Amino acid sequence: MTSPDSRFEEQKTVADLCGKQDYSNAGCKWNLGRSRTMLSSKPLNPAKEAIHRNCQSGEHGMVHRYRLLPVAVCTVLFLLVPGLLMGQQLDCLSCHGNPGMQDSAGHSISIAADAFHASVHGALGCTACHSDIKTFPHPAKIAEVQCGTCHTQEASGLAGSVHARQGAKACLQCHGNPHAIVKVTDRNSPVYPLNIPHTCGTCHGNAKFVKKHHLKNVYGEYEDSIHGAALTNEGLLVAANCSSCHGTHHILPHTNPKSPTYRKNIPDTCGKCHEGIEAKYLAGMHGKAMLAGSKKAPVCTDCHTAHRISEPAQTAFQERTIGTCGGCHREKYATYRDTFHAQVSALGYTEVAHCWDCHGAHEVLPASDPLSPVNRANLVKTCGKCHSGANVKFVSYEPHANAYDFHFNPALYSIRLFMDLLLWSVLGFFAIHTVLWFTRLQCARWKARTAKGDEHE
Ligand code: HEC
Ligand code: HEC
Ligand code: HEC
Ligand code: HEC
Ligand code: HEC
Ligand code: HEC
Ligand code: HEC
Ligand code: HEC
Ligand code: HEC
Ligand code: HEC
Ligand code: HEC
Repeated sequence: MTSPDSRFEEQKTVADLCGKQDYSNAGCKWNLGRSRTMLSSKPLNPAKEAIHRNCQSGEHGMVHRYRLLPVAVCTVLFLLVPGLLMGQQLDCLSCHGNPGMQDSAGHSISIAADAFHASVHGALGCTACHSDIKTFPHPAKIAEVQCGTCHTQEASGLAGSVHARQGAKACLQCHGNPHAIVKVTDRNSPVYPLNIPHTCGTCHGNAKFVKKHHLKNVYGEYEDSIHGAALTNEGLLVAANCSSCHGTHHILPHTNPKSPTYRKNIPDTCGKCHEGIEAKYLAGMHGKAMLAGSKKAPVCTDCHTAHRISEPAQTAFQERTIGTCGGCHREKYATYRDTFHAQVSALGYTEVAHCWDCHGAHEVLPASDPLSPVNRANLVKTCGKCHSGANVKFVSYEPHANAYDFHFNPALYSIRLFMDLLLWSVLGFFAIHTVLWFTRLQCARWKARTAKGDEHE
């Protein structure tokens, strides 16, 4: 029902239904039943009593289905009185409107009339959905309602989705009570943005259920995330709910290239709302590599996760993300770890330079790019954010000093080499010294022992 065209078509279908054929037939039959009311003297259970009071066709309408003659006669009669057809809905409710009404198996078959009238389908009448009810009295078993006969687009979307296996039942699992469906823009709708996570969470937050279906329990994670908190605690309608990232009816597994949660589509999915950041990301090396098809390039969720997205200002996020950058840039990570900045951050200070304080978080560029904050020309400014008074001399300090790479920094390499040589020659000297000393000691002892032996002889 998303395009105006389909909406029009569906309403036409409904108008057809309500105006002439099915609706009138059903109404006729029910009114016919009522017009021939005869009360039985035998007391019945409330449900059966209701049937009696309203649609006498002999002793018990539901049971004596073969007594069709009076029904047929009245049907013909009734077709001549179309004005009375509007009573159809009322008639269903004259039985099903009784609170506490149950079927023979003890299940509730009572419909709350007020809620039904207030619902989006209130004006359609019962047989718009229960369209197989064409005879009176209606059979005890009635065909499952197919919402898709009117909502074709939603139904065909669902048919190819991860939830297809639930069949026609799926509609109700998200939309709730079929007799009280309200507009999706109504705050009480289970698919109103603020209610969507809870609705999906009835399954995706149910520990037993997710285990059975080998899924991750994402609901709790989502609720604690910045999006979940914004939606649930702050009532922020524009915060991402499950459907913002997954879609509604045509939800696909994240391994399907057409899914909005497929790796390559994730920047666009987040970018629907975080447009400015997506633009920066795409302008940087990560976005470019991703577009070029690199599977090694990070997308939004590699750094932010999908369901545990937190405020980037949080220490936990920052500590974890240095490791995330480091997981791909191992060498730069190792050299960063050796420097003062990382040593300080390892001590728990947050006011220290993280990878992105120097490189930027989204528009990461090679150092050779004049726009890169770590380009030689921009270093005074970049370091100066924190080191007021930073000058050209100060920024000659290497944040990724690698003493093992001659080309990277020959001076550092030579000093490191000298220090290493010094260390090893000192250690070597003492090692040799110790061995010689030990040997000499053993020799002396042996000599002393043989000398004693000679004396005894
Ligand atoms: C005379 C009372 C009466 C009227 C009027 C009536 N019903 Fe029923 N209906 C019943 C009873 C009784 C049952 C339970 C049958 C059983 O024992 O399982 C029932 C069951 C149903 C069921 C459930 C069937 C199932 O498979 O579990 C539906 C759906 C239903 N009715 C719809 C309607 C609709 C729609 C109308 C109006 C067009 C209507 N009923 C009018 C008495 C009535
Ligand atoms: C929007 C479609 C729709 C309309 C309109 C509708 N129903 Fe239903 N009804 C359903 C669905 C769906 C079910 C669940 C069982 C199924 O799938 O057939 C159901 C089930 C029932 C049941 C079985 C008990 C239950 O609650 O599961 C009864 C009785 C019933 N409807 C009566 C009515 C009556 C009476 C009306 C008119 C006042 C009505 N329905 C209007 C869709 C509808
Ligand atoms: C996985 C949950 C889920 C299932 C299953 C589901 N829906 Fe929906 N449906 C939603 C959500 C969420 C929305 C709200 C979309 C929005 O706000 O734009 C919605 C919206 C709708 C709308 C309003 C029009 C629109 O697209 O916004 C209709 C009509 C609808 N659904 C019908 C159905 C029918 C019919 C079925 C079964 C074939 C069904 N839905 C199954 C979640 C679901
Ligand atoms: C006989 C046709 C018909 C059937 C069957 C039907 N619907 Fe509807 N549905 C409509 C019409 C007409 C509207 C009202 C559209 C409007 O007001 O714009 C509607 C509206 C809705 C809406 C609200 C859409 C919105 O824009 O907010 C939802 C949700 C919905 N239906 C779900 C269902 C579900 C679930 C079923 C099955 C239980 C179902 N429908 C069966 C005709 C039908
Ligand atoms: C901000 C976007 C976003 C939101 C909001 C979101 N998801 Fe996801 N979801 C994703 C992405 C992206 C994936 C792909 C796998 C991954 O990166 O973890 C995913 C994966 C999943 C999976 C598959 C997990 C697995 O591998 O078993 C399920 C189930 C799921 N989401 C359900 C939900 C539910 C339910 C909600 C709402 C409570 C929700 N998602 C909210 C983006 C989101
Ligand atoms: C009635 C329970 C139920 C509800 C409600 C439900 N789901 Fe699901 N969902 C499932 C089941 C079962 C599967 C697994 C399907 C399979 O693999 O066969 C699934 C699978 C998924 C997956 C695919 C995970 C993957 O492999 O990547 C996503 C995404 C998802 N659901 C999102 C949602 C969203 C979003 C909502 C709410 C709009 C929702 N679900 C509501 C039962 C449910
Ligand atoms: C439907 C719109 C929407 C989508 C889609 C969306 N977000 Fe958000 N996001 C928001 C809103 C709104 C906020 C602000 C919440 C707040 O401040 O309370 C937010 C906050 C954030 C924050 C925290 C920002 C801060 O300064 O604290 C991050 C990080 C974030 N989103 C990442 C993502 C990622 C990654 C994705 C995709 C996987 C994504 N978002 C998808 C709307 C969205
Ligand atoms: C390589 C890791 C990485 C990738 C990929 C990434 N982010 Fe970020 N994001 C960060 C870091 C780190 C910060 C914290 C920046 C800061 O504190 O200055 C951040 C901050 C944010 C913020 C908060 C606003 C801000 O700029 O501080 C939002 C929103 C956000 N990212 C969304 C996204 C979206 C959407 C994508 C995908 C288009 C994305 N991020 C891709 C690492 C990443
Ligand atoms: C999932 C792996 C991955 C993660 C996580 C990651 N990167 Fe990258 N990064 C890449 C790839 C792939 C390239 C592109 C290399 C190329 O095309 O030359 C790249 C390029 C870069 C470049 C440009 C320099 C160059 O060699 O082209 C910088 C700077 C950079 N990343 C910094 C970061 C920072 C800072 C973080 C964390 C906020 C980070 N990266 C997280 C994979 C990653
Ligand atoms: C104090 C600022 C600073 C911090 C913190 C920092 N870098 Fe760098 N980074 C630089 C500078 C300056 C360069 C360019 C000179 C060089 O290669 O050492 C650079 C170069 C790089 C390059 C190579 C770029 C190219 O074009 O060759 C990558 C990749 C990189 N850093 C990743 C990281 C990662 C990952 C972290 C965090 C673990 C990090 N950096 C932390 C300042 C920093
Ligand atoms: C996000 C803030 C931040 C940025 C950006 C930053 N630093 Fe630092 N830096 C610190 C902090 C905090 C310390 C440790 C506290 C201190 O002694 O000042 C530190 C310490 C140092 C030290 C050792 C202590 C000292 O003050 O002599 C040097 C050298 C240094 N930084 C160089 C740089 C260079 C070069 C850059 C730019 C490439 C840079 N820093 C960028 C925050 C930053």
